Amino acid sequence: MAWPVDRPRRLRDNPALRALVSETTLSPADLVYPIFVVPGARVKKEISSLPGQHHLSPDEAGLLALEFQRAGGRAMLLFGLPDRKDAVGSSGADPDGPVPAAVKVIKNLAPDMAVITDVCLCEYTSHGHCGLVRDQKVLNDQTLPHLAAQALAHAKAGADMVAPSDMMDGRVAAIRQVLDENHLSHVPIMAYSVKYASAFYGPFRQAADSAPAFGDRRGYQMDPGNRREALFEVDLDLAEGADVVMVKPAGPYLDVLREVRDHTSRPLAAYQVSGEFAMLKAAAAAGALDFKRSALESLLGIKRAGADLILTYLAPEVLPWL
Ligand code: PBG
Repeated sequence: MAWPVDRPRRLRDNPALRALVSETTLSPADLVYPIFVVPGARVKKEISSLPGQHHLSPDEAGLLALEFQRAGGRAMLLFGLPDRKDAVGSSGADPDGPVPAAVKVIKNLAPDMAVITDVCLCEYTSHGHCGLVRDQKVLNDQTLPHLAAQALAHAKAGADMVAPSDMMDGRVAAIRQVLDENHLSHVPIMAYSVKYASAFYGPFRQAADSAPAFGDRRGYQMDPGNRREALFEVDLDLAEGADVVMVKPAGPYLDVLREVRDHTSRPLAAYQVSGEFAMLKAAAAAGALDFKRSALESLLGIKRAGADLILTYLAPEVLPWL
């Protein structure tokens, strides 16, 4: 059957009809808001590469969490900027570092907020790489205990979930083992399983002061052209004990999201990264795009591709529109 019998426009006639047959909806509970925590108190400084995002001391992170919760927000992701860096990123495992401190403040002020922490060395190492370095190479197995120690510090502070983003092989198993040995078997792991070596992290590296001092991350993050390898990474992380798997970035990798969605029944996260956010902001500021409509459409596309949850700097801005 076809026209004139079949007429898809019949169901588009008015908003109520359209709503009855709409296939994808965004909900506040889908969104995770990434923030950047710094040491100190009463620090709230705008990040020039990410309009509207701030470097926040733990007390200010707590106030922001309350504000976000009042608007309907349910989950946040914490990145930390330490006041000292060394070759092995030891400040990342400091129980008094900015991330554990902010976890405590947020859980105290807004106990219902899901607090997720990013686990990686790049913000904490002097060379900016996500692992230990020898002869200009990033070492894999020697990095794992340092990641596990950082995850443990976050979980001990009360994080609801830890999210390793370093892309070392075996880090999910290493983190799971250390958490379990420390009576933290209830803390889930969201693995950045499919993380591409992407140019879209540019504004983040400025925000997190984590650009590599030499070389790039292609020795550990994925080749942007690879699709089958994404499924291999997902299988490995799930076998190691990941509770949630992630595809990152989101917008340029919607095909990969869909493929992972069809491959596993486990929860799937997508990270709309700093460059995707900055592009929307810049286009809106230039008058080229309507911000509200394009922001919502970018998120709807990610949801339609198969994401259960979306990490996005847009979270507080779009909440009132959902
Ligand atoms: C740390 C990390 C990065 C991002 C999240 N965790 C940067 C990187 O890998 O260089 C990027 C997030 C964003 O661009 O918003 N490894």
